[in-house]
Amino acid sequence: MTPIELEIGMGRAHFLFERAAVQPNHQIIGIEYKARWVEQALRKQQREQIYNITPLHGHAWEIVPQLFKPDCLSLIILNFPDPWWKKRHKKRRVLNEPFLNLLVSLLRPGGQFFFQSDVLELFEVYQVLLESKLTKLPCDKNPLGAKSHREKKCEEAGLPIYRTLLYK
Ligand SMILES: C[S@@+](CC[C@H](N)C(=O)[O-])C[C@H]1O[C@@H](n2cnc3c(N)ncnc32)[C@H](O)[C@@H]1O
Repeated sequence: MTPIELEIGMGRAHFLFERAAVQPNHQIIGIEYKARWVEQALRKQQREQIYNITPLHGHAWEIVPQLFKPDCLSLIILNFPDPWWKKRHKKRRVLNEPFLNLLVSLLRPGGQFFFQSDVLELFEVYQVLLESKLTKLPCDKNPLGAKSHREKKCEEAGLPIYRTLLYK
């Protein structure tokens, strides 16, 4: 069966395209609620005839419950997810306990969850949440062979990036 991967908040979709190139036999789905990034990704996909990605427009909380069956995802990726890292914006953060419960139920046993951020405060909150549901693996660098736009910008600027890799 084709491994299915899900990137939540794909932004400019750099990760999605690079991951598609390193894992040509995987199907990689990206969800993004800014329409222009999705339209841009769809145009690039058509131009370059890339068949193993599916960029989707919408809110992850609405799309994910409709799209997947339990135990069907091999990898979930959350790259630099939120501009909403301040405490007063907590309600807008993409990862909360109910949504993570759903995501964990969609991961197949052994499936992995990769999360990275340059915002330490947010990273620490999400790390505690993730480690309460999943088992941590060693991870000092991005192991996925693909980089997001924000990741490249942080590296260019010499900013620290906090990462965690876990499995079900
Ligand atoms: C800081 S940007 C990072 C984009 C990309 N992941 C990267 O690393 O370059 C976060 C992205 O997540 C998207 N986003 C945040 N919450 C979302 C949600 N609930 N559903 C879909 N997209 C979301 C935002 O629109 C934005 O494009």
